[in-house]
Amino acid sequence: MTLNHISSKRVLIRFDFNVPMYEGKIINDFRIKQSLATIQLLLNNKNKLIIMSHLGRPNEGEYDKNNSLEPIAKYLSELLSKDIKFISTLDEQVSFDNNEICFLENVRFNIGEKSCDESLSQRYASLADIFIFDAFGVAHRKESSTFGVSEYLETYPGLNIKHEISTINKLIKENSRPMTIIISGAKVSTKLIVIKKLLSRCDHMILGGGILNTFLKAKGYEIGLSLYEANLVNEAKNILNSELASKIVFPSDLLCESFSQTKNKDVINIIKDDCIYDIGENSLQEIKKLINKSSSIFWNGPLGYVEKKPFDYATKELAKTIAKHNCFSIVGGGDTLPIIENLNLQNDYSCLSTGGGSLLTYLEDESLPILDKLNL
Ligand code: 3PG
Repeated sequence: MTLNHISSKRVLIRFDFNVPMYEGKIINDFRIKQSLATIQLLLNNKNKLIIMSHLGRPNEGEYDKNNSLEPIAKYLSELLSKDIKFISTLDEQVSFDNNEICFLENVRFNIGEKSCDESLSQRYASLADIFIFDAFGVAHRKESSTFGVSEYLETYPGLNIKHEISTINKLIKENSRPMTIIISGAKVSTKLIVIKKLLSRCDHMILGGGILNTFLKAKGYEIGLSLYEANLVNEAKNILNSELASKIVFPSDLLCESFSQTKNKDVINIIKDDCIYDIGENSLQEIKKLINKSSSIFWNGPLGYVEKKPFDYATKELAKTIAKHNCFSIVGGGDTLPIIENLNLQNDYSCLSTGGGSLLTYLEDESLPILDKLNL
């Protein structure tokens, strides 16, 4: 059975609406827009929908206004021109009244969500006849609303995850070399863990942000006040001691801030008051040359602290260089996509992925906990 054949059912759908927000406003709606095709198809076939997602990393059992999905439900309702009934807590009865869509509050407010608690998974399953998973961005997490519920309901993939997996598979199969992987941005721990395997898959790896700083620390450089992951320095050292380390392209200079002054400094000249916020000009030129020689590129995470000028410079230049270069290019991650969209480059990439950490995890060994259930 495919999505087309599901009609007149109660359908529970897991999306990843973990989108960048600022003061209750949505900064980038890419993940939300990518859900529309699945929603429309199911509505056209007279199904009633129960939508669920997570937002941020709140403490379970505690309501946190900043991580409420209410603004996202409102926005979706505007996009669809349809009323949506918002369900604030699972204790509430899920009834549709005259609506066709119910939208559950952040699943990560529920105790047991992250540990994939059995009774919570069953509680979700009791809400519907069928489960649709269309949340590629969170497909690497084995949680109650992702994997758990699929143990108790007939499960199918949504249109977006189907499309993304088939595009990524095509690129993996074609294995166009040289392949360059760029890993940067926040969430250092998730990403650092996959680096070792990814190094064996690519020809060059470019690092940025907290991941780069963790490696610089492991190499013995001074990184001043820069963000890094102290408990992963040893893991970074292990990687540096392996023969794969030669594939990592380390920057020769960095853009730093100290005492409110911005300076381009050689990596050996960083002092303890510096904060590394971006790669430097010479390093950027080297990276551009490498990009222009690559046949396929996977990019996850901005290179610098893009929220603050001028530390968005290298990331924007990288986005433009990849867009101009004729190659396979997949870019993912909630912080990277807004940059590409703001520069209006979205049509110049082979695939914009809703995945971040999940994209890297999938590239690592082509498996994800939920994948078998989806027959993808
Ligand atoms: C993401 O944005 O990477 C996904 O939504 C997963 O979020 P998580 O890392 O908090 O599980």
